[in-house]
Amino acid sequence: MHLIDLFPSTVLQNNIDFDISDDDIISFTKNKNVMCTPNVLGGNTYFTKNNNILQIKIFEKIRKEIYYNISKYMENVHGVGENKEKIYVKIVSSWMNIINNKNSGHHLHNHPNSFMSGVFYLRCNELEEDSIKFQYTNNNGTITPNTNNNLSFEGLVEEYHHRNSSTWRIPVKRGDLLIFPSNLSHYVEAQKKISEDNFRCSISYNTFIKGVLGDGNTTINLEL
Ligand SMILES: [Fe+2]
Repeated sequence: MHLIDLFPSTVLQNNIDFDISDDDIISFTKNKNVMCTPNVLGGNTYFTKNNNILQIKIFEKIRKEIYYNISKYMENVHGVGENKEKIYVKIVSSWMNIINNKNSGHHLHNHPNSFMSGVFYLRCNELEEDSIKFQYTNNNGTITPNTNNNLSFEGLVEEYHHRNSSTWRIPVKRGDLLIFPSNLSHYVEAQKKISEDNFRCSISYNTFIKGVLGDGNTTINLEL
């Protein structure tokens, strides 16, 4: 018997070395000039006023690692390796998220006007297993069972796996980088043991393609 999985959504996860001390992260987040405005989208979280923080010098190594992993994603998921000199994936915005309030998380969302998005974890919740959850939604963005007939087998399922799940939890730790398609919905569950001291800090970013898509001879040619 063969089970053939068609058309998956792929999340890249990689733990990378970074050169910013915990003290530097804390002093950066305490700087009122760069931090923090309450997240108007809800969830009692905070994010940076600057929406290009990966351009700041202290994040240079992280930015380079993200670009390296984006190229690995392009190669391994999209199959764009040899031709990647024709296009590149540019980080078009990046910002820091802080969760430091008990019972706060991030609401379910995706990232419009972006090709691939990602998140890098500078600090995670150290007192309980930290994670991000991805949610299957249908084409109009509503939450549905991950079946092609809109039926839910809740209560009948003996074991959940990637074929019959509509949510998927990915545990994360300090230094983890995730890259995923921007239209893939995701959220962070309310953190029970988070506090001003045990705060969670991540950098999110959006990307878009620069270069020329298409072979240059057809109507689908697109220069960006
Ligand atoms: Fe996000």
